[in-house]
Amino acid sequence: MKLWTGRFSKEIAKETNDFNSSISFDQRMYKEDITGSMAHAKMLAAQGIITDEDKEKILTGLQNILDDIESGKLAIDPNAEDIHTFIEAELTDRIGDAGKKLHTARSRNDQVALDIRLTLKKETDEVSDLLQKLLAVLDKKATENDDTVMPGYTHLQRAQPVVFGNYLRAYAEMFKRDLGRLADAKKRMNFSPLGAGALAGTTYNINREMTAEALGFDGICENTLDAVSDRDFCIELANALSLVMVHLSRFSEEIILWCSWEFKFIELDDAFSTGSSIMPQKKNPDIAELVRGKSGRVFGDLMTLLTVMKGLPLAYNKDMQEDKEAIFDAFDTVKMCLTAFTPMIDTMTVNKENMRNAAAKGFINATDCADYLTKKGLPFRDAYKITGEIVSHCIKTNETLETLPLEQYKQFSDLFDGDVYDAINLETCAKNRIK
Ligand code: ARG
Repeated sequence: MKLWTGRFSKEIAKETNDFNSSISFDQRMYKEDITGSMAHAKMLAAQGIITDEDKEKILTGLQNILDDIESGKLAIDPNAEDIHTFIEAELTDRIGDAGKKLHTARSRNDQVALDIRLTLKKETDEVSDLLQKLLAVLDKKATENDDTVMPGYTHLQRAQPVVFGNYLRAYAEMFKRDLGRLADAKKRMNFSPLGAGALAGTTYNINREMTAEALGFDGICENTLDAVSDRDFCIELANALSLVMVHLSRFSEEIILWCSWEFKFIELDDAFSTGSSIMPQKKNPDIAELVRGKSGRVFGDLMTLLTVMKGLPLAYNKDMQEDKEAIFDAFDTVKMCLTAFTPMIDTMTVNKENMRNAAAKGFINATDCADYLTKKGLPFRDAYKITGEIVSHCIKTNETLETLPLEQYKQFSDLFDGDVYDAINLETCAKNRIK
Protein backbone atom coordinates (compact mmCIF):
# COMPACT_ATOMS: atom_id res chain seq x y z
CA MET A 1 0.00 0.00 0.00
CA LYS A 2 1.24 3.48 -0.82
CA LEU A 3 0.85 6.51 1.40
CA TRP A 4 0.34 8.89 -1.49
CA THR A 5 -3.19 7.88 -2.53
CA GLY A 6 -5.36 10.47 -4.24
CA ARG A 7 -2.99 12.22 -6.61
CA PHE A 8 -2.08 9.09 -8.57
CA SER A 9 -4.21 7.20 -11.06
CA LYS A 10 -1.85 4.28 -11.62
CA GLU A 11 -0.19 1.68 -9.46
CA ILE A 12 3.53 2.12 -8.99
CA ALA A 13 5.68 0.07 -11.39
CA LYS A 14 7.50 -2.84 -9.83
CA GLU A 15 10.80 -1.38 -11.05
CA THR A 16 10.04 1.94 -9.33
CA ASN A 17 9.10 0.24 -6.12
CA ASP A 18 12.14 -2.02 -6.10
CA PHE A 19 14.44 0.88 -6.82
CA ASN A 20 12.79 3.26 -4.40
CA SER A 21 12.36 0.93 -1.48
CA SER A 22 14.61 1.25 1.55
CA ILE A 23 12.93 -1.40 3.69
CA SER A 24 15.81 -3.87 3.33
CA PHE A 25 18.08 -1.58 5.31
CA ASP A 26 15.81 0.78 7.25
CA GLN A 27 13.86 -2.02 8.91
CA ARG A 28 16.51 -2.12 11.60
CA MET A 29 15.02 1.17 12.82
CA TYR A 30 11.60 -0.38 13.57
CA LYS A 31 11.92 0.13 17.30
CA GLU A 32 13.05 3.73 17.01
CA ASP A 33 10.26 4.40 14.51
CA ILE A 34 7.68 3.05 16.93
CA THR A 35 9.18 4.87 19.92
CA GLY A 36 9.11 8.13 17.94
CA SER A 37 5.51 7.56 16.88
CA MET A 38 4.45 6.86 20.44
CA ALA A 39 5.99 10.13 21.65
CA HIS A 40 4.35 11.95 18.74
CA ALA A 41 0.90 10.47 19.50
CA LYS A 42 1.18 11.41 23.19
CA MET A 43 2.09 14.96 22.23
CA LEU A 44 -0.78 15.21 19.73
CA ALA A 45 -3.23 14.18 22.47
CA ALA A 46 -1.67 16.47 25.08
CA GLN A 47 -2.11 19.37 22.65
CA GLY A 48 -5.72 18.41 21.91
CA ILE A 49 -4.94 17.59 18.27
CA ILE A 50 -6.18 13.99 18.62
CA THR A 51 -8.43 12.56 21.32
CA ASP A 52 -7.18 10.57 24.29
CA GLU A 53 -9.19 7.66 23.02
CA ASP A 54 -7.38 7.69 19.65
CA LYS A 55 -4.07 8.12 21.43
CA GLU A 56 -4.73 5.01 23.53
CA LYS A 57 -5.64 3.00 20.45
CA ILE A 58 -2.48 4.18 18.69
CA LEU A 59 -0.24 3.39 21.67
CA THR A 60 -1.71 -0.06 22.17
CA GLY A 61 -1.55 -0.77 18.44
CA LEU A 62 2.08 0.33 18.19
CA GLN A 63 3.05 -1.65 21.29
CA ASN A 64 1.45 -4.77 19.82
CA ILE A 65 3.26 -4.25 16.52
CA LEU A 66 6.55 -3.88 18.40
CA ASP A 67 5.91 -7.04 20.43
CA ASP A 68 4.89 -8.96 17.32
CA ILE A 69 7.98 -7.92 15.37
CA GLU A 70 10.23 -8.86 18.29
CA SER A 71 8.56 -12.23 18.84
CA GLY A 72 8.74 -13.01 15.14
CA LYS A 73 4.95 -13.08 14.81
CA LEU A 74 4.94 -10.13 12.43
CA ALA A 75 7.32 -10.29 9.48
CA ILE A 76 8.40 -7.02 7.91
CA ASP A 77 7.12 -6.89 4.33
CA PRO A 78 10.12 -6.74 1.99
CA ASN A 79 7.98 -4.97 -0.61
CA ALA A 80 7.02 -2.08 1.64
CA GLU A 81 8.49 1.25 0.61
CA ASP A 82 10.15 1.84 3.93
CA ILE A 83 9.80 1.07 7.63
CA HIS A 84 7.68 4.17 8.26
CA THR A 85 5.16 3.17 5.59
CA PHE A 86 5.10 -0.42 6.81
CA ILE A 87 4.36 0.42 10.42
CA GLU A 88 1.74 3.05 9.65
CA ALA A 89 -0.05 0.71 7.24
CA GLU A 90 0.09 -2.15 9.75
CA LEU A 91 -1.27 0.14 12.47
CA THR A 92 -4.17 1.27 10.32
CA ASP A 93 -4.91 -2.35 9.42
CA ARG A 94 -5.09 -3.18 13.09
CA ILE A 95 -6.89 -0.17 14.63
CA GLY A 96 -8.66 1.47 11.71
CA ASP A 97 -9.25 5.24 11.52
CA ALA A 98 -7.23 6.14 14.62
CA GLY A 99 -4.15 4.80 12.80
CA LYS A 100 -4.72 7.30 10.00
CA LYS A 101 -4.42 10.16 12.50
CA LEU A 102 -0.90 9.30 13.64
CA HIS A 103 0.73 11.15 10.77
CA THR A 104 -1.01 14.44 11.65
CA ALA A 105 1.56 17.25 11.89
CA ARG A 106 4.36 14.97 10.77
CA SER A 107 6.16 14.04 7.57
CA ARG A 108 8.37 11.10 6.77
CA ASN A 109 11.10 13.68 6.41
CA ASP A 110 11.18 14.64 10.08
CA GLN A 111 10.27 11.06 10.97
CA VAL A 112 13.27 9.53 9.21
CA ALA A 113 15.58 12.26 10.52
CA LEU A 114 14.38 11.36 14.01
CA ASP A 115 14.71 7.60 13.51
CA ILE A 116 18.31 7.82 12.31
CA ARG A 117 19.29 10.03 15.22
CA LEU A 118 17.72 7.65 17.74
CA THR A 119 19.35 4.66 16.05
CA LEU A 120 22.78 6.25 15.86
CA LYS A 121 22.66 7.33 19.50
CA LYS A 122 22.27 3.66 20.42
CA GLU A 123 24.95 2.56 17.94
CA THR A 124 27.35 5.17 19.32
CA ASP A 125 26.84 3.84 22.84
CA GLU A 126 27.53 0.30 21.64
CA VAL A 127 30.78 1.25 19.93
CA SER A 128 31.80 3.28 22.98
CA ASP A 129 31.22 0.25 25.23
CA LEU A 130 33.35 -1.91 22.94
CA LEU A 131 36.11 0.71 23.00
CA GLN A 132 35.96 0.79 26.82
CA LYS A 133 36.42 -2.98 26.85
CA LEU A 134 39.45 -2.68 24.58
CA LEU A 135 40.88 0.03 26.85
CA ALA A 136 40.47 -2.23 29.88
CA VAL A 137 42.38 -5.01 28.11
CA LEU A 138 45.11 -2.60 26.99
CA ASP A 139 45.46 -1.32 30.52
CA LYS A 140 45.84 -4.85 31.89
CA LYS A 141 48.36 -5.84 29.21
CA ALA A 142 50.29 -2.60 29.69
CA THR A 143 50.60 -3.17 33.42
CA GLU A 144 51.83 -6.72 32.79
CA ASN A 145 54.50 -5.29 30.50
CA ASP A 146 55.90 -2.39 32.44
CA ASP A 147 59.26 -4.19 32.59
CA THR A 148 59.27 -5.43 29.02
CA VAL A 149 61.98 -3.64 27.08
CA MET A 150 61.64 -3.61 23.31
CA PRO A 151 63.12 -1.66 20.45
CA GLY A 152 61.22 1.48 19.55
CA TYR A 153 61.31 2.30 15.84
CA THR A 154 61.38 5.23 13.50
CA HIS A 155 61.30 4.46 9.76
CA LEU A 156 60.84 0.87 11.00
CA GLN A 157 64.53 0.98 11.94
CA ARG A 158 65.49 0.31 15.52
CA ALA A 159 65.69 3.70 17.17
CA GLN A 160 65.62 3.79 20.98
CA PRO A 161 64.58 1.32 23.65
CA VAL A 162 61.01 1.63 24.91
CA VAL A 163 58.81 -0.28 27.33
CA PHE A 164 56.12 -2.45 25.73
CA GLY A 165 53.61 -1.27 28.34
CA ASN A 166 54.01 2.26 27.01
CA TYR A 167 53.73 1.05 23.46
CA LEU A 168 50.29 -0.33 24.31
CA ARG A 169 49.41 2.86 26.17
CA ALA A 170 50.10 4.81 22.99
CA TYR A 171 47.25 2.93 21.31
CA ALA A 172 45.10 3.43 24.41
CA GLU A 173 45.53 7.20 24.00
CA MET A 174 44.27 6.99 20.41
CA PHE A 175 41.21 5.00 21.44
CA LYS A 176 40.51 7.46 24.25
CA ARG A 177 40.48 10.28 21.71
CA ASP A 178 38.14 8.17 19.57
CA LEU A 179 35.78 7.88 22.52
CA GLY A 180 35.92 11.65 22.93
CA ARG A 181 35.13 12.20 19.26
CA LEU A 182 32.12 9.86 19.43
CA ALA A 183 30.83 11.56 22.59
CA ASP A 184 31.29 14.92 20.94
CA ALA A 185 29.41 13.94 17.79
CA LYS A 186 26.65 12.47 19.92
CA LYS A 187 26.31 15.70 21.84
CA ARG A 188 25.89 17.71 18.64
CA MET A 189 23.42 15.21 17.16
CA ASN A 190 21.26 15.07 20.28
CA PHE A 191 18.57 17.50 19.12
CA SER A 192 15.14 16.51 17.92
CA PRO A 193 14.03 17.18 14.33
CA LEU A 194 10.48 15.97 15.08
CA GLY A 195 7.89 18.63 14.30
CA ALA A 196 9.88 20.08 11.41
CA GLY A 197 7.34 18.38 9.14
CA ALA A 198 8.23 18.04 5.48
CA LEU A 199 10.44 21.13 5.64
CA ALA A 200 8.54 24.14 6.93
CA GLY A 201 7.09 23.05 10.25
CA THR A 202 3.36 22.77 10.74
CA THR A 203 0.37 24.98 11.47
CA TYR A 204 -0.87 22.66 14.22
CA ASN A 205 -0.24 23.76 17.77
CA ILE A 206 2.37 21.06 18.41
CA ASN A 207 4.83 20.94 21.29
CA ARG A 208 8.25 20.05 19.91
CA GLU A 209 9.95 20.36 23.29
CA MET A 210 7.65 17.72 24.74
CA THR A 211 8.60 15.06 22.19
CA ALA A 212 12.26 16.10 22.33
CA GLU A 213 12.33 15.60 26.08
CA ALA A 214 10.37 12.35 26.01
CA LEU A 215 12.86 10.92 23.50
CA GLY A 216 15.93 11.92 25.51
CA PHE A 217 17.12 14.84 23.39
CA ASP A 218 18.81 17.92 24.80
CA GLY A 219 16.49 20.19 22.81
CA ILE A 220 15.01 20.71 19.35
CA CYS A 221 16.66 21.46 16.02
CA GLU A 222 15.80 25.14 15.81
CA ASN A 223 15.47 25.51 12.05
CA THR A 224 12.98 23.21 10.36
CA LEU A 225 14.72 23.28 6.95
CA ASP A 226 17.96 22.28 8.62
CA ALA A 227 16.23 19.69 10.83
CA VAL A 228 15.10 17.58 7.88
CA SER A 229 18.14 18.04 5.66
CA ASP A 230 21.03 17.81 8.11
CA ARG A 231 23.12 14.67 7.95
CA ASP A 232 26.26 16.26 9.40
CA PHE A 233 25.96 13.92 12.33
CA CYS A 234 26.26 10.88 10.05
CA ILE A 235 29.40 12.36 8.52
CA GLU A 236 30.88 13.26 11.90
CA LEU A 237 30.24 9.77 13.18
CA ALA A 238 31.64 8.16 10.03
CA ASN A 239 34.71 10.32 10.50
CA ALA A 240 35.09 9.26 14.13
CA LEU A 241 34.59 5.63 13.09
CA SER A 242 37.15 6.01 10.30
CA LEU A 243 39.70 7.14 12.85
CA VAL A 244 38.87 4.15 15.05
CA MET A 245 39.64 2.02 11.99
CA VAL A 246 42.87 3.91 11.29
CA HIS A 247 43.99 3.13 14.82
CA LEU A 248 42.86 -0.48 14.72
CA SER A 249 44.52 -0.88 11.35
CA ARG A 250 47.88 0.51 12.48
CA PHE A 251 47.73 -1.69 15.55
CA SER A 252 46.86 -4.68 13.35
CA GLU A 253 49.82 -4.00 11.11
CA GLU A 254 52.10 -4.20 14.16
CA ILE A 255 50.44 -7.38 15.40
CA ILE A 256 50.99 -8.95 11.98
CA LEU A 257 54.66 -7.97 11.99
CA TRP A 258 55.19 -8.97 15.60
CA CYS A 259 53.90 -12.49 15.14
CA SER A 260 56.01 -13.11 12.03
CA TRP A 261 59.05 -15.37 12.46
CA GLU A 262 61.21 -12.34 11.70
CA PHE A 263 60.02 -10.62 14.88
CA LYS A 264 58.39 -13.22 17.13
CA PHE A 265 57.57 -10.56 19.71
CA ILE A 266 54.15 -11.98 20.38
CA GLU A 267 52.16 -15.11 19.74
CA LEU A 268 48.44 -15.03 19.11
CA ASP A 269 46.28 -17.56 20.84
CA ASP A 270 45.29 -20.54 18.69
CA ALA A 271 41.64 -19.64 19.18
CA PHE A 272 42.26 -16.26 17.56
CA SER A 273 44.45 -17.46 14.67
CA THR A 274 43.83 -19.47 11.53
CA GLY A 275 45.71 -22.12 9.61
CA SER A 276 46.49 -22.81 5.99
CA SER A 277 44.77 -25.42 3.83
CA ILE A 278 48.10 -26.49 2.32
CA MET A 279 50.99 -25.38 4.54
CA PRO A 280 50.86 -27.36 7.77
CA GLN A 281 53.23 -25.07 9.65
CA LYS A 282 51.19 -21.92 9.13
CA LYS A 283 49.49 -19.93 11.83
CA ASN A 284 48.01 -16.80 10.37
CA PRO A 285 46.88 -13.52 11.98
CA ASP A 286 43.67 -13.36 9.93
CA ILE A 287 41.78 -11.22 12.42
CA ALA A 288 44.39 -8.47 12.33
CA GLU A 289 44.59 -8.65 8.54
CA LEU A 290 40.82 -8.46 8.15
CA VAL A 291 40.60 -5.53 10.52
CA ARG A 292 43.29 -3.78 8.46
CA GLY A 293 41.38 -4.62 5.28
CA LYS A 294 37.98 -3.59 6.60
CA SER A 295 39.24 -0.10 7.36
CA GLY A 296 38.75 0.57 3.64
CA ARG A 297 35.01 -0.08 3.90
CA VAL A 298 34.59 2.48 6.63
CA PHE A 299 36.62 5.14 4.81
CA GLY A 300 34.43 4.36 1.76
CA ASP A 301 31.31 4.89 3.87
CA LEU A 302 32.60 8.30 4.93
CA MET A 303 33.31 9.21 1.31
CA THR A 304 29.82 8.02 0.30
CA LEU A 305 28.20 10.29 2.84
CA LEU A 306 30.28 13.31 1.91
CA THR A 307 29.54 12.79 -1.77
CA VAL A 308 25.81 12.21 -1.28
CA MET A 309 25.45 15.43 0.65
CA LYS A 310 27.74 17.81 -1.15
CA GLY A 311 25.42 19.04 -3.91
CA LEU A 312 22.01 18.81 -2.29
CA PRO A 313 19.80 21.87 -2.23
CA LEU A 314 17.60 22.33 0.84
CA ALA A 315 15.64 20.58 2.13
CA TYR A 316 14.94 16.82 1.87
CA ASN A 317 16.03 15.01 -1.29
CA LYS A 318 15.67 11.32 -1.92
CA ASP A 319 19.44 11.08 -2.31
CA MET A 320 19.52 11.22 1.47
CA GLN A 321 18.05 7.74 1.69
CA GLU A 322 21.58 6.64 0.78
CA ASP A 323 22.80 7.81 4.20
CA LYS A 324 21.61 4.74 6.04
CA GLU A 325 23.45 1.92 4.30
CA ALA A 326 26.69 3.84 4.57
CA ILE A 327 26.48 4.82 8.21
CA PHE A 328 25.04 1.47 9.30
CA ASP A 329 27.82 -0.36 7.48
CA ALA A 330 30.39 1.85 9.21
CA PHE A 331 28.94 1.02 12.63
CA ASP A 332 28.53 -2.68 11.87
CA THR A 333 32.08 -2.95 10.59
CA VAL A 334 33.63 -1.19 13.58
CA LYS A 335 31.58 -3.27 16.03
CA MET A 336 32.56 -6.48 14.26
CA CYS A 337 36.23 -5.52 14.27
CA LEU A 338 36.31 -4.52 17.94
CA THR A 339 34.43 -7.66 18.96
CA ALA A 340 37.15 -9.89 17.47
CA PHE A 341 40.14 -7.63 18.08
CA THR A 342 39.79 -7.17 21.85
CA PRO A 343 39.88 -10.86 22.85
CA MET A 344 42.70 -11.40 20.34
CA ILE A 345 44.78 -8.82 22.23
CA ASP A 346 43.64 -10.14 25.58
CA THR A 347 44.81 -13.69 24.83
CA MET A 348 48.08 -12.96 23.02
CA THR A 349 51.33 -13.99 24.68
CA VAL A 350 54.18 -11.54 24.83
CA ASN A 351 57.61 -12.94 24.16
CA LYS A 352 59.49 -10.65 26.52
CA GLU A 353 62.83 -12.32 25.88
CA ASN A 354 62.68 -11.87 22.12
CA MET A 355 61.72 -8.25 22.55
CA ARG A 356 64.65 -7.73 24.94
CA ASN A 357 67.04 -9.51 22.57
CA ALA A 358 65.92 -7.42 19.63
CA ALA A 359 66.44 -4.31 21.72
CA ALA A 360 70.01 -5.44 22.51
CA LYS A 361 70.93 -5.39 18.84
CA GLY A 362 71.04 -2.40 16.53
CA PHE A 363 72.70 0.10 18.87
CA ILE A 364 69.43 1.52 20.09
CA ASN A 365 71.23 2.92 23.15
CA ALA A 366 73.54 5.07 21.01
CA THR A 367 71.56 8.22 21.86
CA ASP A 368 72.05 7.42 25.53
CA CYS A 369 75.78 7.00 24.96
CA ALA A 370 75.90 10.46 23.35
CA ASP A 371 73.78 11.88 26.18
CA TYR A 372 76.30 10.39 28.64
CA LEU A 373 79.12 12.39 27.06
CA THR A 374 76.94 15.51 26.86
CA LYS A 375 76.14 15.26 30.56
CA LYS A 376 79.92 15.14 31.16
CA GLY A 377 80.30 18.51 29.45
CA LEU A 378 80.77 17.75 25.75
CA PRO A 379 78.54 19.68 23.32
CA PHE A 380 75.85 17.32 21.99
CA ARG A 381 76.99 17.53 18.36
CA ASP A 382 80.52 16.43 19.34
CA ALA A 383 79.13 13.66 21.54
CA TYR A 384 76.91 12.56 18.65
CA LYS A 385 79.90 12.38 16.27
CA ILE A 386 82.08 10.40 18.71
CA THR A 387 79.26 7.95 19.38
CA GLY A 388 78.76 7.52 15.66
CA GLU A 389 82.41 6.62 15.31
CA ILE A 390 82.13 4.11 18.17
CA VAL A 391 79.08 2.49 16.50
CA SER A 392 80.95 2.30 13.20
CA HIS A 393 83.90 0.68 14.99
CA CYS A 394 81.63 -1.83 16.77
CA ILE A 395 79.96 -2.83 13.49
CA LYS A 396 83.40 -3.60 12.04
CA THR A 397 84.58 -5.58 15.08
CA ASN A 398 81.21 -7.24 15.64
CA GLU A 399 80.73 -5.76 19.08
CA THR A 400 77.91 -3.90 20.81
CA LEU A 401 78.05 -0.83 23.03
CA GLU A 402 77.54 -3.15 26.00
CA THR A 403 80.51 -5.41 25.16
CA LEU A 404 83.02 -2.78 24.08
CA PRO A 405 85.80 -2.67 26.72
CA LEU A 406 86.36 0.58 28.63
CA GLU A 407 89.92 1.01 27.24
CA GLN A 408 88.43 1.11 23.76
CA TYR A 409 85.83 3.66 24.83
CA LYS A 410 88.62 5.80 26.24
CA GLN A 411 90.37 5.84 22.87
CA PHE A 412 87.37 7.78 21.52
CA SER A 413 87.08 10.15 24.49
CA ASP A 414 88.72 10.35 27.91
CA LEU A 415 85.36 11.42 29.37
CA PHE A 416 84.31 7.74 29.36
CA ASP A 417 84.35 5.94 32.71
CA GLY A 418 83.02 2.69 34.14
CA ASP A 419 79.59 4.28 34.68
CA VAL A 420 79.04 4.36 30.92
CA TYR A 421 77.74 0.79 31.15
CA ASP A 422 74.99 1.93 33.52
CA ALA A 423 74.08 4.77 31.24
CA ILE A 424 73.66 2.52 28.22
CA ASN A 425 71.93 -0.29 30.08
CA LEU A 426 68.73 -0.96 28.14
CA GLU A 427 66.46 -1.09 31.16
CA THR A 428 67.85 2.21 32.45
CA CYS A 429 67.54 3.77 29.02
CA ALA A 430 63.95 2.67 28.57
CA LYS A 431 62.78 3.54 32.04
CA ASN A 432 64.61 6.83 32.51
CA ARG A 433 63.02 8.33 29.49
CA ILE A 434 60.05 10.57 29.97
CA LYS A 435 56.94 8.52 29.23
N1 ARG B 1 12.97 6.13 3.06
C1 ARG B 1 13.12 7.53 3.09
C2 ARG B 1 14.54 7.89 3.48
O1 ARG B 1 15.19 7.06 3.97
C3 ARG B 1 12.16 8.13 4.09
C4 ARG B 1 11.79 9.55 3.80
C5 ARG B 1 10.95 9.62 2.59
N2 ARG B 1 10.53 10.96 2.32
C6 ARG B 1 10.08 11.35 1.13
N3 ARG B 1 9.77 12.59 1.00
N4 ARG B 1 9.99 10.53 0.13
O2 ARG B 1 15.01 8.97 3.26
